Amino acid sequence: MKNYTNIRDLKNLKATVQEAIALKKNPLQYEELGEGKSICLLFFNNSLRTRLSTQKAAQNLGMNAIVMNFGSEGWQLEFEDGIVMSQNKSEHVKEAAKVISQYSDIIAIRAFASLADKEKDKSEQVINNFIKYATVPVVNMESSVGHPLQALADAITLEENKVSKRPKVVLSWAPHPKALPHAVANSFVQMMQLQDADFVITHPKGYELDDDIVKDSVVNYNQDKAFEGADFIYTKNWSSFNEYGKVISQDKNWMITMDKMKLTNNGKFMHCLPVRRNVVVADEVLDGDNSLVIKQANNRTYAAQIVLKNILDNL
Ligand code: CP
Repeated sequence: MKNYTNIRDLKNLKATVQEAIALKKNPLQYEELGEGKSICLLFFNNSLRTRLSTQKAAQNLGMNAIVMNFGSEGWQLEFEDGIVMSQNKSEHVKEAAKVISQYSDIIAIRAFASLADKEKDKSEQVINNFIKYATVPVVNMESSVGHPLQALADAITLEENKVSKRPKVVLSWAPHPKALPHAVANSFVQMMQLQDADFVITHPKGYELDDDIVKDSVVNYNQDKAFEGADFIYTKNWSSFNEYGKVISQDKNWMITMDKMKLTNNGKFMHCLPVRRNVVVADEVLDGDNSLVIKQANNRTYAAQIVLKNILDNL
């Protein structure tokens, strides 16, 4: 694997999950692999888990991690070709990507969707331009369209916690006061399409995800029906895709409560974090014994580590 921008970049998801679970038992087993190598982690947006877990993953592999909050510390980058740079953008990605490539063996990037321009967001302008102009591999730490490191951590968490061979997994929209991107939900859907599972997406009408992502995955607009018999409830808010970036409803009835969890098959609760308590999910669910959110966050390290190991193996 050269770049990791989508869960489908993994040759074999099932095998990668097993490798990550084995790595978790002895995280320092490849600490010589990355000796003398560096990774530049470029953040155009905020982070807690992605920043710390990817840094830790790199360190476990013996790599030096260089972190830059590009959004607040870097020069504003221009991504358009052939433009007269007379406005507020100081540096073109053509130079920036090549320069950063000289300081690192891998570049990892977080650059969220603008939620203002659907076509530009779908084109993955930031990450694809870095891939185009960088001379080293690029890793997606959450782009406009996807969050494949999160999805891999979620796949590890599902594997570790499933009690049946073919679990029922529900991705449920939940209310949120702000317009949030689709990346986590998109990558979760793509990851679930590679799993042997009964997978259902539930959300209010108007919150349909991109058809190009959902494909033939099952959608049920009735949250209670979708929850019946579920082994896992994966919750996430996202803004409207059709009315791009809009919050068209904040229906409190979609918040995950203990009454809703009682509809499930003693289902486990998952969320990528950060999460707003008593808006997205009730305290009693988040703090309950069936909540996997802290374990999910822990698995971010091993997801990142197995991806970086895979790339280092191919340098
Ligand atoms: N889940 C996740 O990506 O968390 P951060 O935004 O804190 O990195």
